[in-house]
Amino acid sequence: MKIGIVGGTGREGRGLGVRWARAGHDVFIGSRDAQRGRDKAAEFSEEFGVTLQGADNVSACEHGDLIVVTVPYSAHRPTFDSIKNSVGNKIIVDITVPIQPPKVRSVNLPEGQSAALEARALLDDDARLVAGLHHISSEHLSDPNHAFDCDVLVCGDDKDARAEVIGVIGDLGLRGVDAGVLRNSIALESLTPVLLHINRRYESVGSGIRITGIPETE
Ligand SMILES: NC(=O)c1ccc[n+]([C@@H]2O[C@H](COP(=O)([O-])OP(=O)(O)OC[C@H]3O[C@@H](n4cnc5c(N)ncnc54)[C@H](OP(=O)(O)O)[C@@H]3O)[C@@H](O)[C@H]2O)c1
Repeated sequence: MKIGIVGGTGREGRGLGVRWARAGHDVFIGSRDAQRGRDKAAEFSEEFGVTLQGADNVSACEHGDLIVVTVPYSAHRPTFDSIKNSVGNKIIVDITVPIQPPKVRSVNLPEGQSAALEARALLDDDARLVAGLHHISSEHLSDPNHAFDCDVLVCGDDKDARAEVIGVIGDLGLRGVDAGVLRNSIALESLTPVLLHINRRYESVGSGIRITGIPETE
């Protein structure tokens, strides 16, 4: 699949891009600065022995059949404003957690209740918005030897879009779990500060969430 990563030059973009490229996907790294996007794509390709392309964020949206947005919450609104006319009816995965530094271990409910609900309000109705990957550390994603034992909770109002995203999450070496409607992003985004607290309390890196009591495969 063609995957465009908006803000793909950062920590999450690096890990996601490289893992998906390794799994055979055609990955495009987007940036506010086209040259930075090209440079980072070349850097990740050389470092991990894969092939990624890169340029600006709009090009990433045009390239991808699936678009993933990986920017800090402070950049969330301007980023969605800059890409909203380039996403059409594609699936967009928003992984944003609305944390407010320095209080990153305390839940912050933004004005629109969640970053994903705020993104939904900015996009045209036909864009298929899904939220997920809020609990997956960039350190683990970027370590090709790290085997995940946690789950990715995926929510969105389009059931088929959730299923498609769960499929592509499997290619990261992770199990995606259908977590229902987009409004549930309030709960998913709110769990990340809890995990950041747990990491500090137990001196762990990238603690995660595992759902029990469901079949291993559907
Ligand atoms: N890091 C983690 O372990 C982790 C885990 C789960 C969820 N998340 C969530 O994933 C999202 C991305 O996290 P990250 O750690 O990958 O972020 P990051 O590395 O800090 O930033 C990602 C990219 O966002 C762009 N960006 C930064 N500031 C911007 C601004 N003011 N305006 C527009 N673009 C800006 C930059 O791309 P360009 O300069 O190239 O445009 C940057 O490379 C966040 O919402 C975070 O809460 C992170």
